[in-house]
Amino acid sequence: MILVTGGTGHLGANLVRRLLADQLAVRVLLRPGSRSPALDGLPVERMEGDLRDPDAIAKAVSGCERIYHCAAQISTRAGRERELFDCNVLGTANLLRAARQTSVQRVVVTGSLSAVGHDPDRPSHEGMPFYPFGRVLPYSHTKALAEHECLKAVIAGLEVVIAVSTAIIGPYDFGPSRLGGTLLDFARGRLRACIPGGFEFVNVSDLVEGHLLAMRQGRTGHRYIFSTQFLTVDELLGVCSRTLGNTPTRPLRIPGSLMATVATMADPVVRHLRPGAPQRFTPAAVRFLRMRRKADITKARQELGYRPTSIAEAVAEAYACFRRRGLLR
Ligand SMILES: NC(=O)c1ccc[n+]([C@@H]2O[C@H](COP(=O)([O-])OP(=O)(O)OC[C@H]3O[C@@H](n4cnc5c(N)ncnc54)[C@H](OP(=O)(O)O)[C@@H]3O)[C@@H](O)[C@H]2O)c1
Repeated sequence: MILVTGGTGHLGANLVRRLLADQLAVRVLLRPGSRSPALDGLPVERMEGDLRDPDAIAKAVSGCERIYHCAAQISTRAGRERELFDCNVLGTANLLRAARQTSVQRVVVTGSLSAVGHDPDRPSHEGMPFYPFGRVLPYSHTKALAEHECLKAVIAGLEVVIAVSTAIIGPYDFGPSRLGGTLLDFARGRLRACIPGGFEFVNVSDLVEGHLLAMRQGRTGHRYIFSTQFLTVDELLGVCSRTLGNTPTRPLRIPGSLMATVATMADPVVRHLRPGAPQRFTPAAVRFLRMRRKADITKARQELGYRPTSIAEAVAEAYACFRRRGLLR
């Protein structure tokens, strides 16, 4: 039996479908009251539990040989530090502790490029330590600390491999995620503004493949970065236009430095007036785009035989899935 945490999330929904297609028995951990349609109609065993509840996690882990730990709270906003820490760090520690106490052979934990070191002169690789100072996003901090929990579990004898993700694009994005929402807004002509910048993106099917490779042959205690390609914001919107077969209203290009100032000033006001409301241009999101971070995937290529496909395919499948669900004409 394979346990997947975060099965209702963007990555989890794709991973579960792939495991089922490979004829494997899958159990998913669902938060009590989770109402996502991501798993509707799928032949999976459902176990209720929150990562913060050690007893529920122990039950979910019991009888499983392998675990894909994809669940996490993702946020580019300030003000949710405690919740992020409890879910991402303590939750991961709960899961790994439970795994150590049962028959689990191997755990693959999803990491984030934002928790890998950054050097403006070269692409980030697995050996670069996380830089914890400066304007570090609380989310990134928790993902770095979650990796620390992984290494503690390895020392205690558990096989854990970290599959580092970049920004995910692809189908079954039921949230939708920030990025999925941006693709939808662009298609509907409602993306009013964008800033020049860029990031590493991963086709969700490449990321799923990376997780399977990490489970099969990743070295215990190692991290592997799985990305598909770096794209600037303009390049990504160009891919979207070509996929849609038209050019929806082109968003206004706002200089990054101006947007950074506006986002920094607006953030506390928006958080006060509309707490919890989705916000595209948080100061952290603007900063990430302006950093134009690149990733080096040599290790995954050489050690695991990872071969990324293309972001154009991921965008096409994302839009096809939004259409099937009636979100896009
Ligand atoms: N999305 C990206 O671009 C990106 C980039 C880098 C790294 N990552 C990493 O990739 C992984 C998957 O991301 P994603 O995009 O698939 O995330 P997502 O769509 O936001 O899904 C998150 C999943 O985690 C579950 N979850 C959250 N808190 C939980 C808790 N306390 N207990 C149990 N389950 C909980 C959610 O369940 P509910 O349905 O109940 O909310 C959901 O299934 C995460 O580890 C993330 O840090 C993502």
